[in-house]
Amino acid sequence: MTEAKPLQQTGRTHILYRGRKLAYFAGCDYFRLARHPAVAQAAARACRTVGLNVSASRRTTGNHVLYLSLERQLAVFFGAPAALLLPTGYMGDLAVGQALAGQFTHALMDARSHGCLGTAARFLDCPVLTFPHRNGGELARMTAECGPGSRILILTDGMFSHDGSVAPLKDYLAVLPANGMMLVDDAHGAGVLGQHGRGTLEFAGVDRRRIIQTITLSKALGAYGGAVLTSRAMRERIMAASNSFAGATPFPLPLAAAAVAALNLLKEHPGWRAQLMENAGWVKATLRDSGVPLPEAPGPIIPLPGATPTQARQLRRALLAADIYPSFIQYPGGPASGYFRFVISSAHTRRQLEALAGVLRHHVPRWAK
Ligand SMILES: Cc1ncc(COP(=O)(O)O)c(C=O)c1O
Repeated sequence: MTEAKPLQQTGRTHILYRGRKLAYFAGCDYFRLARHPAVAQAAARACRTVGLNVSASRRTTGNHVLYLSLERQLAVFFGAPAALLLPTGYMGDLAVGQALAGQFTHALMDARSHGCLGTAARFLDCPVLTFPHRNGGELARMTAECGPGSRILILTDGMFSHDGSVAPLKDYLAVLPANGMMLVDDAHGAGVLGQHGRGTLEFAGVDRRRIIQTITLSKALGAYGGAVLTSRAMRERIMAASNSFAGATPFPLPLAAAAVAALNLLKEHPGWRAQLMENAGWVKATLRDSGVPLPEAPGPIIPLPGATPTQARQLRRALLAADIYPSFIQYPGGPASGYFRFVISSAHTRRQLEALAGVLRHHVPRWAK
């Protein structure tokens, strides 16, 4: 593994790279709220008034009204009965895995699930089988094979970060026996997908009663931390049974204040979601018109695998010449040799999108030949 280069974000859509200011189409801060003045001010104000850190578990003396208030606001925004904060999105999945230990006879997990679901599944104390990526038919066959009396937990990402595709949650619920449940890691869908930004569940039009939705506050909200959106009973159970909750300091209070501010902005500006989809839709349509093969996926992600080392070098050079950061990533779950992945945000200007599309449409169609 080669260590990734340090980058410095200098504005909502730019970074400094080797002393040059480049347009940045990476990271998953889909609305670029990490640098929004209202979000930064909320964090700075909280740092002055309530301090940086509670220095204790929420199970002991580390609970705070700001955490409770954020949880209430998250539950309302996402239309869930309750929310519970965890120090990170990663730990949200672990906390659910710990709380569900011993409750299921089988765990069926999408083969391309994010690593934190795989780690969470280890806590379940039951066999963990993987089903082919987004394949409802295979999942149906495997649930039937589990046999009568089985209790099944399905684990999947909501929106997959490698290509912006989504899990067919409705198909999954249709084959899940009545006593089964589904854990949906919606780190990327939350705030982005669905009419109200409630994520993949809203996008798929499914009822959340048999679903536990985990999210991160570090992507669409531009803040930091994780949350589990679930029933009140499950919230209680995680607090009682999960060491990831009980044995860890919650994330810093200023980040909770930042998340509240970001949530308010998303509520006040529903048009940002439409802008995000319009931006991504325009780039995807322009590339497809030029012969770039892209998956049919609703997420604002442009995956471009398949470059030879020479083609990758050429594209990197062309992007740099156009003042665009060449976002080539090596990430668990993606192609081992790495691939170009561009993440579109609502804050990119049409000029920036045109510059990106202009370079990609010139280079990528030649790759297959
Ligand atoms: C699908 C998915 N789940 C969970 C996480 C972890 O969230 P966090 O960064 O808040 O720990 C990530 C990445 O950041 C992710 O992409």
